[in-house]
Amino acid sequence: MTLLLAPDEAGLAQAARLLRAGELVAFGTETVYGLGGDATQGRAMAAIFAAKGRPHFNPLICHYPDASAAFDHVVPTAQAAALAALFWPGPLTLVLRRRVTCPVDLLAGAGLDTLAVRIPAHPAALALTRLAGIPIAAPSANRSGGVSPTLAAHVIADLSGRIAAVLDTGACAVGLESTVLDLSGPQPFLLRPGGIPMSAIGAVIGAVARGSTPAQAETTRGLRSPGLLVSHYAPSLPVRLQATAPLPHEALLAFGPAPAGTLVDNLSPQADLAEAAARLFRGLRFLDGEAPRLGLSAIAVMPIPDHGLGQAINDRLQRAAAPRS
Ligand code: TXA
Ligand code: MG
Repeated sequence: MTLLLAPDEAGLAQAARLLRAGELVAFGTETVYGLGGDATQGRAMAAIFAAKGRPHFNPLICHYPDASAAFDHVVPTAQAAALAALFWPGPLTLVLRRRVTCPVDLLAGAGLDTLAVRIPAHPAALALTRLAGIPIAAPSANRSGGVSPTLAAHVIADLSGRIAAVLDTGACAVGLESTVLDLSGPQPFLLRPGGIPMSAIGAVIGAVARGSTPAQAETTRGLRSPGLLVSHYAPSLPVRLQATAPLPHEALLAFGPAPAGTLVDNLSPQADLAEAAARLFRGLRFLDGEAPRLGLSAIAVMPIPDHGLGQAINDRLQRAAAPRS
């Protein structure tokens, strides 16, 4: 049962409570309805990917009540500060370097060292981020590959029964997603055109790189996103997939009932894919750090079923195991 909440005091309080409890709550922003979850909880992040049926762990945008809250988690450049002063709250997402103290779960940021942050302009969305007191990760609240929702009814049609609640904030004023601008590198880079026109951004920070044709822009954006890099999410130790048991020199990343070994981290003893997804990056990092201390020099990974979230897990594991150049 998905609750439909009104954006009044009681509805907002309940939405904030559900989010803090790790539940998913869709809410309207000025752009599109977002599928919100507590960005510091790995399980909530895995649940977002599962609810959307999203086949890959695309990085998610984190929503904050104000720029200073956002800049507690990422390092603002001078250009970011200038744009934030002008366009926040509003449909502009900035990709910036994470601070080492950033509590956002690695799954929300797809394991990248950058994080996309934005301050939504819709008063109810702002009130929700303030009340919840957590960074709210939110992709558009639709099934993967579908059309973005701009009404609560669209969200219900797509996700009813898959999420805890929808905060009905009415029709979205902008109706298309935020502009995504990458300021983490030496040059500003447009990753997605959106609610703030590029001319307005160019007037503040000057030229912004993007491909000259949509296809070119798509390719360049692809190369910047983790999805197209063959070797990625790779720990420093070599990774062997489809292992039934660890060899003497290997640590084991297990799934379901596991054989004994010198060092074993089980992604989900009950073989739950959402739990495994939530623990994947953490498990790889843990084994990569601990194995050498125990004289182990490789990571073996047990088979993960290739359906649902398993496809995303296997995609990351294949990149982790791919030949390094
Ligand atoms: O208007 C919006 O931005 C809506 C509302 C709910 O805020 N959200 C939204 O999220 O459109 P989503 O997940 O559908 O799109 C996020 C986009 C994706 O293209 C993703 O690749 C990019 O932002 N992105 C997020 N974090 C990134 C990062 N660290 N580096 C590069 N791209 C990133
Ligand atoms: Mg989307």
